[in-house]
Amino acid sequence: MQGHLSLDVVAGADDRRHALCNDVRAGLSGHPKQIPPAWFYDEAGSLLFEEITRLPEYYPTRAERSILACRATDIASAARADTLVEIGSGTSEKTRLLLDAMAAAGTLERIVVFDISRDVLVDAGKGLAGRYNVDVHAVVGDFCHHLASVPRGGRRLWAFLGGTIGNLLPLERAELLAAFRTQMEPGDHLLLGTDLVKDEDRLVAAYDDAAGVTAEFNRNVLAVLNRELGASFDPSLFDHRALWNAREAWIEMHLRSRLAHKVVVADLDLTVCLEEGEEILTEISAKFTAEQVSDELVAAGFVPLDTWRDANGDFQLTLAAPSVLPRRMGQ
Ligand code: SAH
Ligand code: AVI
Repeated sequence: MQGHLSLDVVAGADDRRHALCNDVRAGLSGHPKQIPPAWFYDEAGSLLFEEITRLPEYYPTRAERSILACRATDIASAARADTLVEIGSGTSEKTRLLLDAMAAAGTLERIVVFDISRDVLVDAGKGLAGRYNVDVHAVVGDFCHHLASVPRGGRRLWAFLGGTIGNLLPLERAELLAAFRTQMEPGDHLLLGTDLVKDEDRLVAAYDDAAGVTAEFNRNVLAVLNRELGASFDPSLFDHRALWNAREAWIEMHLRSRLAHKVVVADLDLTVCLEEGEEILTEISAKFTAEQVSDELVAAGFVPLDTWRDANGDFQLTLAAPSVLPRRMGQ
């Protein structure tokens, strides 16, 4: 028996191109220069991310998988969900632990996977439909804009895993959590994966691995701009830099220009002048304390119900429920 896969493209090619043009024009015109991390994940970037998750230095995926391996049954029984909604789902590889637990409990009826990267999403959707005899609904969309397109109904467990929440700035993070809260209905739950603050050396090594895979992942965004916007970046002229910003409690990834040069982005009619040593910020990856996770969830209208960590205390999963809105006077 196979499940049925359906595909819903909310962010089509035209919308994506429009968003890319806006991001690149705004991000490369001023100082400091930046490119948002959502553009890493073309087909090559998604494969490189997969490779990162297997690196010895990159602990978050292993840590989160180990929590799910031990706790998926507890999570499934606490949420009692019939629908798993995974946001920023990628390959949904770890998620199978959760789905297996829901299937074993006899509650799993539907899977929704939501990602900006169509290719990885369709592959993952096919794999899930082949494994679980339930409807699999794949939504191609931007979680910052299209959460309202998540199918409604049932009792949903929304999973936002991998620490992807940390790739957003604090204000964007607050907005996204609030958007989850707005879309969630009574009986729904949120399962949030967050990487935790730890020793700087381990953090930097996780984002600057010895094999240079993260460097390749970082430079790949320039190949995306070359292909999609007719840009003239030579990725070999950029060094990968990963640093720990202790004040903000986040890792920063930069691409540092080795020499002063100009890059043309033909489709935008834009010439980008780079100084020697000038950096383009391509990603932040925020690391959290348990208190901070709880405070941010509460501020967004959630009640944290339970937390789980891996044996090394590197990564945390938090299960939360939408708080009941206070009734207005007289209602
Ligand atoms: N959840 C998976 C994948 C993490 S990689 C895991 O834990 O391993 C981050 C994923 O988020 C990628 O698949 C990427 O395509 C997706 N993503 C990044 N920005 C996005 C956005 N704005 N909207 C939707 N998906 C996004
Ligand atoms: C997807 N996200 C949580 C990863 C992270 O760790 O911030 C992306 C990544 N960037 C470099 N390595 C992995």
